[in-house]
Amino acid sequence: MNLDRRTLLRTGAGLLGAAALTACGAGRTEKAAFVSPAGPQVRAAEQARRPGRVRDIRLVAAPAEGAAWAYNGQVPGPEIRVTAGEVVRARLVNNLPAETSIHWHGLALRNDADGVPGVTQQPVRPGAEHVYEFTAPDPGTHWFHPHSGTQFDRGLYAPIIVEDPREPLGYDAEWVVVLDDWLDGDPDEVLAELAGGMDHTKMSPNMLMGATSPLLGGDAGDVRYATYLINGKARQTFRAKPGTRLRIRLINAGGDTAFRVALGGHRLTVTHTDGFAVQPVETDALLIGMGERYDVLVTLKDGAFPLTALAEGKKAAVSAVVRTGSGTPGKAGGLDGRVLRYAQLLPHESVRLAARTPDRTVRFELTGGMAAYDWAINGRRYDPRDITPIRQGERVRLSFVNRTTMWHPMHLHGHTFALPSGARKDTAVVLPGDTLEVDFQADNPGVWMVHCHNVYHQESGMMTLLGYESGGSRSE
Ligand code: C2O
Ligand code: CU
Repeated sequence: MNLDRRTLLRTGAGLLGAAALTACGAGRTEKAAFVSPAGPQVRAAEQARRPGRVRDIRLVAAPAEGAAWAYNGQVPGPEIRVTAGEVVRARLVNNLPAETSIHWHGLALRNDADGVPGVTQQPVRPGAEHVYEFTAPDPGTHWFHPHSGTQFDRGLYAPIIVEDPREPLGYDAEWVVVLDDWLDGDPDEVLAELAGGMDHTKMSPNMLMGATSPLLGGDAGDVRYATYLINGKARQTFRAKPGTRLRIRLINAGGDTAFRVALGGHRLTVTHTDGFAVQPVETDALLIGMGERYDVLVTLKDGAFPLTALAEGKKAAVSAVVRTGSGTPGKAGGLDGRVLRYAQLLPHESVRLAARTPDRTVRFELTGGMAAYDWAINGRRYDPRDITPIRQGERVRLSFVNRTTMWHPMHLHGHTFALPSGARKDTAVVLPGDTLEVDFQADNPGVWMVHCHNVYHQESGMMTLLGYESGGSRSE
């Protein structure tokens, strides 16, 4: 039997039979047999989450105004809000002229609901429907978007907030603030132009040259956007009473933009990143890479204050007014103040990973560059046949070695890793020339993506897979 795994992964047989397939490959250079996304290990892990009440949700993906594609006709799409332990049953109706999927970014969910076409499911064809059903295990601020091409840069994104049934934080009000860079065009065209190389004789207006940021260690981004949005709007006013103790859940849904965020006249107390609690720490401003989230607490003063998201290094910004009283909003203070660094983030006791020496270190060199637009991992562009094996029960260290001259927000699916400080995250910025080592507990069997959350880098190939070996586990 000489079956091509790539072909199989794209068929139902492959999705269900990856383990059987590699067993047939004996005698070849086949290395490992992997847990199948819909296999018994994945079902057992889901049962262990004790699925609770089912929440039915319907999401219709369709073209919207202008070049936008949207869920249920709105950008951001409709917020999903459930309590930890509840089951999300989301019916995706694809009214797009393209195949699509939904990835639930940040959730340690069952592998077959992870939304990666060709790996954990078949793509959802135009006119077709697909039901995602999974237990939302941990409280936190997360979001969802397609894992199909550049689609999330067209407006297909929305928050999914998992509430804590025993919320330990005290606050009076809560706002979800989703940041986005708005293309007002076709991101596939932008990608094609970028992939065509930096030929200066035909520099497209979409390409951004010379956007630099010291905070990002150099080159800030590749793409020039038409505008920047907070909750889908270029301007708006948030209202509250003075003295309100407010929780803000910040999400960067951008494709190629880091945002530096501050609220004029206020300091922010950071309580969570990527949904997981940290020891509360105060800051003037936050730098948020694509895919990252921060929860902050702030007690609002009396007056009007700018909530500003600076498109880092791109000489552009979007602002909203936070109004608790009269007056005109002052200058966008705070942005020039101290920006929180990862080293300041310490894990809250409730989420700290027990100290343990890694059983395995996986080295991912981030490679490629702007000129050839050949972003890759370990010099290889994404190939669904390249699966790095890990084992159930292991403590795995991912060593991201950035060989490029650009920063990359690296994201792991299905798990929340620990930074060297211990703070838990699922998406972390790796600066040019830097190495970032993150550890996670392999406790969610399946085949999982690791990739840069710059959608243009991801699509050009900076994406790879980790797979749980199907043969046994390491005892903890
Ligand atoms: Cu939000 Cu694989 O991504
Ligand atoms: Cu990148």
